[in-house]
Amino acid sequence: MTAADSALFTPEVLVHPQDPLGFIAFLRRLIDNPLATWPQAVFEEKVHRVPFGKRDLLFVMDPPLVDEVLVAKAASFPKAPIIRRTIGPAVGNDSIFTAEGAAWRWQRRAASPPFRHGTLLSFVPTFGASADATIERLGAVSGATVDMAEAMMETTFDVIVETMLSGRTRFDTRRFGEEISRYFDTVGWIAAYTTLKLPEWLPYPGRRRAMAGNRFLRQEMARVIAERRAEPLAEPDLLDALIAATDPETGRAMTDAELADNLLTFVVAGHETTALALTWALWLIGNAPAVEARLVEEVATVVGEGPVEASHIDGLVYAKQVIQEAMRLYPPAPIIPRIAAEDVMLGDMHISKGTPVYIPVYAVHRHKLIWDNPAAFDPDRFAPDKARQFHRGAYLPFGAGPRICIGAAFAQIEAVAILVTLIRRLRFVPLPDHRPMPTTRLTLRPAGGMPMRVELRQTRISHQTGT
Ligand code: HEM
Repeated sequence: MTAADSALFTPEVLVHPQDPLGFIAFLRRLIDNPLATWPQAVFEEKVHRVPFGKRDLLFVMDPPLVDEVLVAKAASFPKAPIIRRTIGPAVGNDSIFTAEGAAWRWQRRAASPPFRHGTLLSFVPTFGASADATIERLGAVSGATVDMAEAMMETTFDVIVETMLSGRTRFDTRRFGEEISRYFDTVGWIAAYTTLKLPEWLPYPGRRRAMAGNRFLRQEMARVIAERRAEPLAEPDLLDALIAATDPETGRAMTDAELADNLLTFVVAGHETTALALTWALWLIGNAPAVEARLVEEVATVVGEGPVEASHIDGLVYAKQVIQEAMRLYPPAPIIPRIAAEDVMLGDMHISKGTPVYIPVYAVHRHKLIWDNPAAFDPDRFAPDKARQFHRGAYLPFGAGPRICIGAAFAQIEAVAILVTLIRRLRFVPLPDHRPMPTTRLTLRPAGGMPMRVELRQTRISHQTGT
């Protein structure tokens, strides 16, 4: 480690106890936080086999092999059944996230219009306005401790409703978030049952309540669809694009149930992940004064005192680096599970049909063979002259290949616009004794939230104060 390295903030690694576990203790940990069951080998080796019943489970960390699984041989490695079992109860088994083959392809095409570059840039004022609303809420309690995970969920939820549903629909944001969290909290059980090949109907704590929550979420989506059918929009949004789409093979449009599943997918996938990227970023920045100072300076130079606009985005180079580095250390989607659909070669390894092949993104992003000083928070890794030095299979917050996140560009522009708008006006101070533990609940959440002290900055910004 160099002297420059030692000036960097290095978050303590809390999550990988390597104590030997009996079967029951292992299961308990798997239910509680699957991340805590990953062996140290996934941070040090290129591939790691875990004997599991008749078949091994394979963790793949080597960037060229990761690329082979997700890109070059994507057809041989579809999404693993654990995805359908964990996400299917919330968003159905045939929505854009869970479907495969032709059933997936036409939905992906149908959903693409709102994600074109020009459309994304037209959303920038909305991103800034949602951040401004957050500043108003948080500024009113300046000096208080706030759960920034919750605050960011609220901000990105506003964004998704404003952009994908043209802001026309009103939701009970708090209830929505609670139901999603309630369901996510039970996912450890589903993952454990799937790993043990136990049937889906088996009970577990919180199941009935979580399923009722899922029904509530679906009903909300059904309401939105009925409202839209009754009163179409002049300017089409995501929902209109989905309603208008037809399957080229069958000529049929989506049923209301399919529309509801897809809409829910976009609302859940489209706000929770970006909120977590921002949450972890704010905590890292709060611990790294030099990073914070550079960010504040960049915002002053590039954006100035007015609202953030589409024309600023390309100039916010350091803010983008900060978001990228936050998602390296804390990737909101920490694992990408696949399964071998046939006997297939991976590098020089023969993989037999049915083998689960997992890409542990969280471990790839902290891997000793890939990154210098992997645990340190160093946004300069992503400086424009350095970013191309690593293999594309080494950094995958949004996945890769045909199933890469459809919202990747949306999320990056959104996160940058929200971050710079917030940081210009507010300081986020970590609590001295708080050590956030990353926990996998489909996404990578800080266990118990992210309490931080929020303070208004001294300098006032003219467009918010009217001065
Ligand atoms: C920082 C924010 C985000 C992260 C880290 C993230 C991460 C991911 C990842 C890793 C996948 C691929 C999963 C796999 O291959 O198994 C994915 C898929 C997906 N994401 Fe995102 N996502 C983010 C934001 C968004 C946003 C803003 C939207 C929509 C507005 C969105 C919608 C989707 C959808 C619909 C899919 C499924 C795509 C398909 O299978 O064709 N995501 N996301």
